[in-house]
Amino acid sequence: MKKSYFIVVFLLGVSTQILAQVDYPSQIQPILTSNCNSCHSQGQNSFNSSSYDAVMASVSPANRYDKNHVIAGDPDGSPLVDKIEPDPDHGNRMPTGGSLSNNEISLIRTWIEEGANAVATNNEIEEENPTEFKLLGNYPNPFNPGTNIRFQVPEAAQYSISIYTVHGQLISEQVGRASIGTNTVAIDLGNRPTGVYIYQLRARVNGTNQVIGSGNMTLIK
Ligand code: HEC
Repeated sequence: MKKSYFIVVFLLGVSTQILAQVDYPSQIQPILTSNCNSCHSQGQNSFNSSSYDAVMASVSPANRYDKNHVIAGDPDGSPLVDKIEPDPDHGNRMPTGGSLSNNEISLIRTWIEEGANAVATNNEIEEENPTEFKLLGNYPNPFNPGTNIRFQVPEAAQYSISIYTVHGQLISEQVGRASIGTNTVAIDLGNRPTGVYIYQLRARVNGTNQVIGSGNMTLIK
């Protein structure tokens, strides 16, 4: 691999550090701070809404849900979601004496669905009828051993996804045909060690291979 090529890949990775997922610090904590902290800032009634770490560490007692309030990736199985939606399995709907807006509830659901990350790992917005080629990031991230790279195309096109180590060594390349709209490509790095990897998406546009974008992903074993 030529050194100049590696530098291009690396810079692209930095330039596509944009955000698309729900971001806990800017979108979720403010909802909890204004609606829940008055009663749960110190872990009262076994739920602590004061910070990301506190929320993730909150556990519902054995005579209630008997599990963590947030189950990453599973909004329907998370007591936190059950408590903010109508008719919870235990006790009253939260916040006591009111309710969150549908938008706030769906943000919390989406955040959990996306893996309940501490911060958003990408911030591209997904479009229903894309007019351009766009890399949407990978999910989940960090991951073990598999993650999904998502991108959108405005027309059917051949694509390739190359994966590199941070040292620019190509470790895999996957080629396929993308259909109009959002496409998801599963990546498995089960045979690789823990670390940060760079992926690069290329597509054949107007007869030439073009780099659509690249990003970083973290494998944690
Ligand atoms: C006015 C005080 C008050 C506010 C505000 C409030 N809570 Fe509560 N919360 C309680 C009380 C009291 C309980 C225990 C009784 C119950 O579950 O209904 C509770 C219980 C809970 C539990 C269940 C704990 C368990 O596992 O048994 C969760 C989760 C929870 N609240 C989340 C929230 C969230 C999220 C908000 C903000 C959107 C919120 N609460 C706002 C008073 C409050």
